[in-house]
This record gives sequence, structure tokens and C-alpha cells, in this order.
Amino acid sequence: MTNLGDLPPQSVTSLLEALNCGAFLGDPSGHILHANKRICEMLGREPDELIGHSVASLYEADKLPAQRLINFNEPHEEEFRISTSDGRRIPVVISGRPLDRQPPFSNYRLVTIIDISGQKKAEARLTDEYQTIAKLSDTVIKQALDLKHYSEGLENKVQERTTELHEANMDAIYMLAVASEAKDADTGAHVLRIRHTTQTLALEMGLPRATAERYGYSAILHDVGKMVVPDEILKKPGRLTTAERITIQEHAVAGERILSKKSFFDVARQIARSHHENWDGSGYPDGKKGAEIPQAARIVRLADVYDALISPRVYKPAWTPNDAAEAIEQGDGKLFDPETVAVFKVLFERGALTAQPS
Ligand SMILES: [Fe+2]
Repeated sequence: MTNLGDLPPQSVTSLLEALNCGAFLGDPSGHILHANKRICEMLGREPDELIGHSVASLYEADKLPAQRLINFNEPHEEEFRISTSDGRRIPVVISGRPLDRQPPFSNYRLVTIIDISGQKKAEARLTDEYQTIAKLSDTVIKQALDLKHYSEGLENKVQERTTELHEANMDAIYMLAVASEAKDADTGAHVLRIRHTTQTLALEMGLPRATAERYGYSAILHDVGKMVVPDEILKKPGRLTTAERITIQEHAVAGERILSKKSFFDVARQIARSHHENWDGSGYPDGKKGAEIPQAARIVRLADVYDALISPRVYKPAWTPNDAAEAIEQGDGKLFDPETVAVFKVLFERGALTAQPS
């Protein structure tokens, strides 16, 4: 308690009572001279319990108020806590300043106190909600990432299975081709060379790699129809009769019939049927000419003849590559498509057709 000195004028205390926030009127050292009704309600105290005490004694007990909070000679505003009679600590905004510059009001200090409990609760609730949303967001992002990884894993597995399936298809094609070639007393090396030559010619023509590769693996099956030709005709060392030649020629149509109707074998079926067609229309089985002959079959026509020429047979030795290349050029525009021959010459001179798989 302190000497109360001059009591504030009635007009000032009335003004404090009219405020809609808690308010003290104090002397220059911060001792309470008047406490309005709202601050008494806020603190749960009677005016007599407050008057004469220092305003600073109401502040949060375990925290020292900043110096500016108890210096009432300069205007200040601060967020702090004040203690109530029931032990609660209420968050408040404290604002203090001299009442006026002129006496007698310059002897009084006005302290207003606004209860901000509601705002603090709302702030805490918002913080909680923000944290909940942040956690939820983390969970959603984690789940999305998990899903992405799972999806990528699945895609890789599908890719692996697709590759395995493609390789299995290639193996099946190769085995079928070797089985049919075996009837012709040939080896699997022939079909591999045909594949290589066909693919190389197609690439040099400027066809997309995927198309060139498709022509290559489809070429492997060009003679699959020989499975239906009796061995004694296929392996006959002497001259063939007309009937026997016709029987052998049937391998083209038979090959097309044997091959699956699936789109994967579309090119293989074209090759099987048309790989003995000649550019000038003198071939079989349909006597097609020029561009009527599927492009893949035109390429295999050349690749097949070239390989037959450079391979030894029971009825002939192997030709040298140069002799075989000369024969191919002689067939330009007759047996073979001129475009294919032109590309063949380029590749042959470059040596790209001699380094083949065997
Ligand atoms: Fe053939």
C-alpha cells in the first residue's frame, strides 16, 4: 500500500467506468488509485483489494514484467498475463500511458487491460487445426509416393514380363524355323543370316528400327511351309520333275496357312507367301509384280537368294560373295526390287553383309 495522494477527479473515474475494457488509474509510480468495474470483474476482486497496490503486482507471478510495463511515464502496449483471485492467469493486452500532459491530469497514469482469452483460444485451435492438416497432408503425400513407387514397380514387372514373353516368342519362332529348315538339310545358321540381312537392308532403306526388326524376325519363318513338303522331294539330289517342283512351290502358301492369324505374324505371313515372287511378275505363287509384292517379301527375296548362293549345297559349292553379289545385280529389276538391289550394293561395298552371324 502507498499514500494515495490526490484522488482522481470524478470526471476521470466516470470516463474509466464508461470504457468497455478493464482500466486502472494510477499514480506516476504505478500504484492503483481507481479500478473500474470491468477490471474488478476480470480479476474477481473488489476495488478495495486493488486500490493502493502496484499494478505490477497483478502481473504473472513467475514472470518478471518488462521494464516498460511498469514504467508508466511513457506510452506502452504489451501482451502479458495477469493473475485472478482464483489463481487463473488471463492473457491480456496491457496499455499504459500518462493521462495527459497538463496538470492535474499529468499526475495520473491510465492503464487499460483487454482480455484476449477468446482470441488466444481461437489461435490455439487454428494452430491445432493447421498441425492436423499438415499431418494429414504429410500422410496423403506419403501415400501418394507409396502408390507411385508401387505403380513404378508394377510397370517394371509388366515390362519384364513383356520382355520375357517377347523373348519366348522369338525362341518359339526360331525353333519352328529350325525344325522346318532341318527338313531341307540346312542348319539354324541360315535363318539367322536371313534375319540379319533382311534387317540390315530394311534399316539402310530408312525404315524405322521397329519395322526393320519386325521384318528381321518375320523373315526367319519364310520357309516354314517346307514342313508339308515330303523329305524325298526336298532332299532329292537330282533334277526335280515338274510335279515335284510344283509340290515344293506349295511351301509358300502352306507357310502362310501354318502361321498364326495373330497380328504379330502379319508380316511373317506376307513373307511366307510372297518370298518367291519376282519383281517382273515371273515368280510364284501369285505372279505378283513390282509394288504388288509386300516390301518385306521383296527384301527377303534378295536376302534368301544371296544366302543360298554363298552357302554350299549338295548340288553346288558355295559361291564367293563377289560372285553372289554380281548375280544379285544381274537380277536387278527381274527377280529383285531395284530399290533393294541399290541398298544391297551400298551395304555390300561397305562390307556390312559379310560380317554376319553364322
Ligand atoms: Fe522358300
